[in-house]
Amino acid sequence: MRVRKAVFPVGGLGTRFLPATKALPKEMLPIVDKPLIQYAVEEAHAAGIEEFIFVTGRGKTAIEDHFDYSYELEDLLSSRNKIEALEALRAVVPGAGQVAYTRQQEPLGLGHAVWCARNLVGDEPFAVLLADDLIMSEKPCLQQMVEAAGETGGNMVAVMDVPREHTSRYGILDVGSDDGRLAEVRGLVEKPEPAAAPSTLSVIGRYILTPEVFDHLGKKHLGAGGEIQLTDAMAKMVGSGPFHGLRFEGTRFDCGDKLGFLQATIAFGMARDDLRTGLGDYLSKIVKDL
Ligand code: UTP
Repeated sequence: MRVRKAVFPVGGLGTRFLPATKALPKEMLPIVDKPLIQYAVEEAHAAGIEEFIFVTGRGKTAIEDHFDYSYELEDLLSSRNKIEALEALRAVVPGAGQVAYTRQQEPLGLGHAVWCARNLVGDEPFAVLLADDLIMSEKPCLQQMVEAAGETGGNMVAVMDVPREHTSRYGILDVGSDDGRLAEVRGLVEKPEPAAAPSTLSVIGRYILTPEVFDHLGKKHLGAGGEIQLTDAMAKMVGSGPFHGLRFEGTRFDCGDKLGFLQATIAFGMARDDLRTGLGDYLSKIVKDL
């Protein structure tokens, strides 16, 4: 099974980050010096993705500009001999014809955003990456999934165990057979209350999906929060082919949430040779003063 296309739903409103997201898309918020969406695109590229499909919305044009050449800036950097900055800038842009944008006119939910990409995806398996789930790992998370899906075929979601009191924040798996790495998906529930959750294994923002998901999304069933939920459409595919949750290796940061965003900033900052000492010194100082 080859996964060539990836969908990046970036049509959400990002209300938890207002006022920062009033004029700036949430996905353009930087962790250290790179926007969240660029981490996601680089992860997809490392996993062998060749076509990058963005489902955008109102006020998201900065994302299109980010993945385009900026001639004035490049000219300026080059005339000032800022080679490193120039290289950093050029590394961002996927090749001609490899990027497509479609617009979700109304933010009706993640499932609706994915459905908006149906004609660009066509009849083949594809990946979905949510940029606000940022994953720090040795092997990029999507690459781990592509390799695992190569063994299993069918649908696959990245999963992690969460504290039971947090199940109402996630899509939760009803687990069949489980070898500790791959868990067979027997059912899926969106945001169940802790007492009703079939497990504590939760879906995070990485998916490999078969195109049948579009048939279910096309029914536009409203789920949790009155939104068209991707989890509900995925739940309809249980039993119609292989479907697994992969416990990926790595640490996931929920950058759609303020605390997760700050944690990611510290973790990614501490992973940088140019920042580790300065940031580490500062952190030890403020921890001592607590
Ligand atoms: P979130 O649930 O984080 O919603 O979406 P949000 O609107 O982005 O942020 P808050 O909760 O208001 O702060 C998860 C992902 O799904 C996309 C978002 O862009 C994000 O990547 N999404 C969500 C859409 O593309 N369209 C939607 O209608 C909803």
